[in-house]
Amino acid sequence: MRAQATPGAAAGPADAAAPRGVNQGVPPVTYGQGERPPRGDYGRARSDYTCEQVGAYSATEHDIYRRLFARQLQQLPGLACDEFIAAVHQLGAPDRIPRLDAITERLRPATGWELVAVPGLIPEEAFFALLAARRFPVTDWIRTPQEFDYVVEPDIFHDLFGHVPLLFNPVFADYMQAYGRGGLKASRLDACELLARLYWTTVEFGLIATPAGLRAYGAGLLSSAAELPYSVRSDQPRRLAFDLARMMRSRYRIDSFQAGYFVIDSFDQLFAATAPDFAPLYDQVRATIARSGEIEPGVVLPGEREFRA
Ligand SMILES: [Fe+2]
Repeated sequence: MRAQATPGAAAGPADAAAPRGVNQGVPPVTYGQGERPPRGDYGRARSDYTCEQVGAYSATEHDIYRRLFARQLQQLPGLACDEFIAAVHQLGAPDRIPRLDAITERLRPATGWELVAVPGLIPEEAFFALLAARRFPVTDWIRTPQEFDYVVEPDIFHDLFGHVPLLFNPVFADYMQAYGRGGLKASRLDACELLARLYWTTVEFGLIATPAGLRAYGAGLLSSAAELPYSVRSDQPRRLAFDLARMMRSRYRIDSFQAGYFVIDSFDQLFAATAPDFAPLYDQVRATIARSGEIEPGVVLPGEREFRA
């Protein structure tokens, strides 16, 4: 899953007069996306954009899920972080699309999170509000057989397989809630684009340095058959140490493999670094961008330390 411009981040309902983050029965407007509106029937969503999970999936849909799951599962060793591998079984039987409520029954006692269905991409404020309440939105439709290798928007396979196992990790679970709270603040500070870069480079495409080598923890990597091995093993992309200001200054691609990744030492580092108020950081990053510009994908500046594959 690469083409979600800013995950969960959209500019708000089409009716500009309506309060942002309140479903008006129409698709949200997304940043940097193509001509067609986001897929999904927004007429069936509640005001907070959550909906009832689709009642019954077809045999074809279950089969797509089963094949995607099997393909990703077999390549996790050596590529995915241990915390992810330890929790992936929490998704339940891999042969059919699970019920979100059944996963929530295991997730809530573990970290206090629950899963909620949504019809597709949702506006950023609605997204942040759900995360801040420890409710993770999961798109409830699955890609078509023709989209087996590549689907433009996140579907239920990406959202479940990519994101949900790490919600069973207490530190990462707290980070996700902190991100939601930070997002609500960023909305008021007009800093959502900067914060979206943090989400992109950690939650979607993050790498972690372990004693055994680099491993992936980002959902966009873990749910992608091709980019997962590329991100960890290829000598093509550049890999830099986690640095909040650097990440917020960096542009990223939404239509191809990432040209660069950022590497954390631990989930504790991620949580600790994002605990302080970001308002001064936003000011600092804006000043740097005004002075020296944004940084293009895959560019390494003089003096920056790189991680090797
Ligand atoms: Fe995602």
